[in-house]
Amino acid sequence: MVKSEKQAKLDQIKTDILAKNICPDLAKQATQLVFGDGNPDADIVFIGEAPGKNEDIQGLPFVGASGKFLSEMLALINLKREDIYITNIVKYRPPSNRDPEQDEKDAFLPFLEAQLKVIQPKVVVTLGRHSMNCFLPGLQIGKVHGQPKRYKGQVYLPLFHPAAALYNGALRQTLIDDFISIPIIIKKLEESEKK
Ligand code: URA
Repeated sequence: MVKSEKQAKLDQIKTDILAKNICPDLAKQATQLVFGDGNPDADIVFIGEAPGKNEDIQGLPFVGASGKFLSEMLALINLKREDIYITNIVKYRPPSNRDPEQDEKDAFLPFLEAQLKVIQPKVVVTLGRHSMNCFLPGLQIGKVHGQPKRYKGQVYLPLFHPAAALYNGALRQTLIDDFISIPIIIKKLEESEKK
């Protein structure tokens, strides 16, 4: 299969992260870089926080319990993982799954922005407050979840993180309800583009 131009550009960003030795302390204790996975032509990009244990082992984002839940929610809107692109802000697993630190998020942000520039999605779905605040600083996830926000020409949809919702019945339903609105949001965007 011939590699698409977009995939080649994404591969170059991954090479750049490695060559520039971003977050060397995180890199040293991680198994590998977890760059991103999915369709470079996707309309939707999902952005999580940082890889966990399973992601660190497999080198792919969202392959553990949160990933399974995410796949179930994708199925509700007739999408598969191959239809979307998925990545994290921080691309190495933080030790003991601690929250990513501000300097780590800052170090990876230019590469995340470069990924988005290549993919050019219609909607960027941020999963959890860390991911949301990278793009939409100062907002509170409890107040704005499920509400599309346009910022510097890009539409973002802040959602709760699947890991937070996994074992919390009320939050789980809220996340599912927000998730189901994704196709409606995309349809509205497409309609407004036609005008
Ligand atoms: N949680 C995340 O934020 N990212 C992953 O890749 C897995 C779990």
